[in-house]
Amino acid sequence: MTMTSTPTFVRFVLDGAVVEADLAQHATTTVLDYLREHLQRSGTKEGCAEGDCGACVVLVGELNAAGTAVSYAPVNSCLQLLPTLDGKSLKTVESLQRADGKLHPVQETMAASHGTQCGFCTPGIVMSVTGLLQTVPSPTRDQVKDALSGNLCRCTGYKPIVDAAVKASQAAPEQLKLDDQADRALLLQMRQSSASGTSAAGRPFFAPSTVQTLADCLLAHPQAMLLAGSTEIGLQVNKQFARPEQIVYLGNVAELRQVEDQGRFWRIGAQVSLSEVLTLVSDDYPDFAEVLRRFGSPPIRSTATLAGNIANGSPIGDSMPCLLALGATLELRRGDVTRMLDLEQFYTGQKKTALQSSEFIVAVHLPKLASGQVFRAHKVSKRFDQDISATCCAMRYEFQDGRLAQVRLAYNGLAPSPCRAPKLEAVINGRRPEEVTAAELDQAVAQSFTARDGLRASWTYRALLARNLVLQFVEEATAQEAVK
Ligand SMILES: Cc1cc2nc3c(=O)[nH]c(=O)nc-3n(C[C@H](O)[C@H](O)[C@H](O)COP(=O)(O)OP(=O)(O)OC[C@H]3O[C@@H](n4cnc5c(N)ncnc54)[C@H](O)[C@@H]3O)c2cc1C
Ligand code: FES
Ligand code: FES
Repeated sequence: MTMTSTPTFVRFVLDGAVVEADLAQHATTTVLDYLREHLQRSGTKEGCAEGDCGACVVLVGELNAAGTAVSYAPVNSCLQLLPTLDGKSLKTVESLQRADGKLHPVQETMAASHGTQCGFCTPGIVMSVTGLLQTVPSPTRDQVKDALSGNLCRCTGYKPIVDAAVKASQAAPEQLKLDDQADRALLLQMRQSSASGTSAAGRPFFAPSTVQTLADCLLAHPQAMLLAGSTEIGLQVNKQFARPEQIVYLGNVAELRQVEDQGRFWRIGAQVSLSEVLTLVSDDYPDFAEVLRRFGSPPIRSTATLAGNIANGSPIGDSMPCLLALGATLELRRGDVTRMLDLEQFYTGQKKTALQSSEFIVAVHLPKLASGQVFRAHKVSKRFDQDISATCCAMRYEFQDGRLAQVRLAYNGLAPSPCRAPKLEAVINGRRPEEVTAAELDQAVAQSFTARDGLRASWTYRALLARNLVLQFVEEATAQEAVK
């Protein structure tokens, strides 16, 4: 049975050399700890160990299918577990130094523009900017700011840092590009020789390569922890000292990394990252894309998955209001049995789901808008970027004879799990936009949810948001109808 590509060792490429680490010993070691404690690469810093500060950002490289180029994604090394690096390459701030000892243009301009003071944040910032310049050679200031939304600097202020990034982008492309010629050859060798291991009894970390072997593996190991992008599990390892005895990693299952256009919906595999989902929805659902652009930061979104967000089931999970309003369904599998479930039936309580033992999400089916349908969504949080929602509200509707119809409205932050709001939908459905009143919505909010003050927002504030976001969407609908 093809079960894992990492039989007993984790093997990855670091600056033209293969690094091999014992799997059993390092199943829950973070990439950050391995770099600092075992490879003496202390340029990568630990600030928060929870994905918030960006001091630990490194670039993870994957060889393309043709074996001709490596694509890089910024990741928070404090959240990623070492075995997920198997078959990939890694670039740290130390990788940037040239053979002649010269600094990389991003490092040079950071120094020249006074973009660094105490220097603690600097390696992470340099890696985020270097990562951006691999794919966007001439970024705008807004693109630089977005790339740095997960990098905190307490000393310098961001203007000189953004100046440095823009100045660096004017360097010759060959100077900006990461040197990975030697890495490519090794990655190719590793791909060709990758052992297709056998039954993995007793191993702590399984990395199946097909959906079938994943399903078999979960049946055989029902207690194993399923690992996707690691942005939740990394926290559990660092902050709650979770040391699961067995982990099943989805990252090597190629089928789960696919997005398929099925005509009326997209089938989004469970290992598709939020960065990819953001790109996918940006034309059809700009509001959904904006919610995702404010989801964590680029290093979080490059690994975090849509399915992981759903399965995690946090009451303030941001993708779910959008998915609920759009009528998303989940493709679930246990052993050889596959079933479809509406997302609105998935949550059975706070962080409780309808998933059975050994069952997993294979894909999310995201409907496309039918003609005449409108979708709106907005997330409210204290800070614009990288912050947790007070609430996020999403609404899909259409007009029938000037009246709002087929309304689907969903929130996070108001109930034990993200949910639709049928009583508010009833207030809106069948009405002309100008007929929808604040008083009726307030009454429906009071009837729908149990008032609870939270750390991030009082109930009074959340209830006001729940009503005002709907009023805003409805008011915009009025304006839209008037234009027709
Ligand atoms: C700094 C930071 C910022 C964040 N910002 C946001 C934010 O703005 N909005 C927001 O909503 N969340 C945010 N999160 C939370 C987190 O990033 C998301 O919930 C993310 O989508 C989880 O996906 P993952 O792939 O990383 O999941 P993982 O950490 O790999 O797994 C999470 C859970 O889902 C389960 N799971 C994963 N895949 C499957 C599957 N296919 N089938 C069944 N179970 C599965 C795992 O077993 C685990 O229990 C943030 C987290 C951090 C650390
Ligand atoms: S150490 Fe702060 S994001 Fe990793
Ligand atoms: S230079 Fe000190 S934190 Fe950025």
